[in-house]
Amino acid sequence: MSDNPKIQRLRELKAQARLGGGDKRIDQQHKKGRLTARERIDLFLDKGSFREVDAFVMHRTHDFGLDQNQILSDSVVTGWGTANGRLVYIFAQDFTVFGGSLGEVHAEKIVKIMDMAMKSGAPVIGLNDSGGARIQEGVVSLGGYADIFLRNTLASGVVPQISVIMGPCAGGAVYSPALTDFIFMVRGSSYMFITGPNVVKTVTHEEVTFEELGGADVHAETSGVCHLAADSEADALFLVRELLSYLPQNNMEDAPFIPSQDDPLRREEKLDEIIPDDPSKPYDIKEVINLIVDDGKFFETQPAYAPNIVVGFARLGGHSIGIIANQPAHLAGVLDIDSSEKAARFVRFCDAFNIPILTLVDVPGFLPGTDQEHSGIIRSGAKLLYAYCEATVPKLTLITRKAYGGAYDVMSSKHIRGDVNLAWPNAELAVMGPDGAVEIIFRKELAEAEDPVARKAELVADYREKFANPYVAASRGYIDDVIEPSDSRPRLINALEMLTNKRDTNPPKKHGCIPL
Ligand code: HXC
Repeated sequence: MSDNPKIQRLRELKAQARLGGGDKRIDQQHKKGRLTARERIDLFLDKGSFREVDAFVMHRTHDFGLDQNQILSDSVVTGWGTANGRLVYIFAQDFTVFGGSLGEVHAEKIVKIMDMAMKSGAPVIGLNDSGGARIQEGVVSLGGYADIFLRNTLASGVVPQISVIMGPCAGGAVYSPALTDFIFMVRGSSYMFITGPNVVKTVTHEEVTFEELGGADVHAETSGVCHLAADSEADALFLVRELLSYLPQNNMEDAPFIPSQDDPLRREEKLDEIIPDDPSKPYDIKEVINLIVDDGKFFETQPAYAPNIVVGFARLGGHSIGIIANQPAHLAGVLDIDSSEKAARFVRFCDAFNIPILTLVDVPGFLPGTDQEHSGIIRSGAKLLYAYCEATVPKLTLITRKAYGGAYDVMSSKHIRGDVNLAWPNAELAVMGPDGAVEIIFRKELAEAEDPVARKAELVADYREKFANPYVAASRGYIDDVIEPSDSRPRLINALEMLTNKRDTNPPKKHGCIPL
């Protein structure tokens, strides 16, 4: 140990900064079942890799007696380190200091590491635990938020941005996480809302708890704001590390290649039997995914929201891919407003970050009804269509069963630049299902038939024979090949590798006008 007084002084200051709001507040934080900002960073990053910046920063406010209360590092800890050996920038709001509230210097610290992340092309991880805008700093705090919002937006599609909500996140403060790519929440200890229960009660007379209004499960199941809800802070941080393993560092790189022992030529006989004989019977598309991808490992995001579509990351032959799959086990895999928007956002994320897309199609069409029509399914469906049309990453499509109507076009069809479009032999590509089609085109004949039920059965069988198969589409080249289901893994890996050097572009423009 050096006894140089200057070095001693430095050590004291750093130790003081590490204490944040002090032992009493650290205890309070622990009593709530929460970790401190620095503990969270240590848990998330590779051991010993954290390099803190701005530990000596303190606020510059004099109002409301704040000048009597100066805390080194202020209410956010910032810096960089590695996660699984890869560089990330990180900030963690420190609730033990002024309730993690965001004032001028708190914002400046976040802005500094965001700017560094943009220059060096690495993800930004934000650990949120804050009482919001620092009330004593007034409009300066609001300006600080806006400085961050601007950077969130400019960084969007350049470096991955991931938010973990580990405490309060209220008011306009929610918009920084909302602008990032993925939001993780911790059950029972985090919440997000624009206005809290008290304001809700005053304005709408509703009685609602924090958890009911903006807890992790509400946002994971109902609003779709949260991508994954975890049972503990450690689980949430572990999931973020796993997610990062599927992502590139920035939009100029590819995701890491992680080879596996899983044979790329593995045939999977179970897939030949997975589709029920009765086309109206459900099956679980996640079973199909697990049988195809490397080691059966699928990192699903938003699993509880709009479960009629499944999205998430996996690897095929070591290559990271994004999967979008209709889920026949839920609402028959129909496309509705929520599932269209969920999938559209996922497609755009993959496209922005050079992650090839695999689409598994079994879709009976768009969900009918006044609720959907009046709530704008036209606009929402258009978002998904737009997202697929503009995507230039390798696009693989596998039709496992139904591909009906507009949904056939939307789900990465050949016409909208699907690169390799495959179908299983039970695939049915048609304007609509046989029952509906026969009722429309043979309405008069059925009305006049002696035995309408028998006649309808004949007509349905005839229609199925003619249209409800993959061969009409294949004869036109809309499907590149009809394959045995058990061959899916080797065929998809082969297609993905064939497309390794795929390049495609869109016309030059400032930006498109996606129907938001
Ligand atoms: C300054 C704050 C603060 C804030 C909390 N503190 N929020 N200080 N500005 N926004 C301080 C408290 O005074 C307290 O200091 C310490 O942090 C811990 O807070 P407690 O209230 O004791 O903690 P707890 O009981 O756990 O309650 C947490 C809380 C509550 C629910 C977050 O503090 C709260 O309601 N805060 C105000 C939330 C809010 O309305 N913020 C503005 C939202 S609007 P001491 O010294 O007593 O320990 C917003 C707009 C953003 O953020 C706009 C962006 C465009």
